[in-house]
Amino acid sequence: MLAAHTDQRVLGYLGRALSLELSAVQLYSTQARLLSTWGLAEPAERMQAEVQEELGHANRIIERMLAFGVAPGASQLRPVKLGRSLAELLENNLLFERELVGLYRDATTHCARAGQHDDRLFFESLLNDEQTHHDELMKWLEELKGHTGSDLTLPSGTSRTRHLRRERRS
Ligand SMILES: [Fe+2]
Ligand SMILES: [Fe+2]
Repeated sequence: MLAAHTDQRVLGYLGRALSLELSAVQLYSTQARLLSTWGLAEPAERMQAEVQEELGHANRIIERMLAFGVAPGASQLRPVKLGRSLAELLENNLLFERELVGLYRDATTHCARAGQHDDRLFFESLLNDEQTHHDELMKWLEELKGHTGSDLTLPSGTSRTRHLRRERRS
């Protein structure tokens, strides 16, 4: 049974998050197989590790939904977008991770405004994970392209600046 105080918007964020996380599982799992087919064993292994990470996120969301008395009902998985190179796959993944970051940022902001402390912490933790994932993907792509990423663009106010700052420090 749904807890009386449950914020419907929080449930909405959880539902969208589950759909996106499960879509990420489908996407990265497909890419791991594709990379393996291309003979790129190391990237395939790394992608497979990302599948596990996204699956972990999906599990955390399902657990949270159950705690609210809600049955998970993700019914709309995103179709997988294929590519012809590792760089193409990673560029697509960057967009995907940005969407996750955006969703978790919105959810965190909402919970902060509504004074939902526990929910805010929950979404904030996922936000941090996806932000880190995004930054790692960015770095991977830059290494792959063999430059500092000057032609890679990010929407304003994103981790790009932080990422470059961190690079400069190291
Ligand atoms: Fe995730
Ligand atoms: Fe991710």
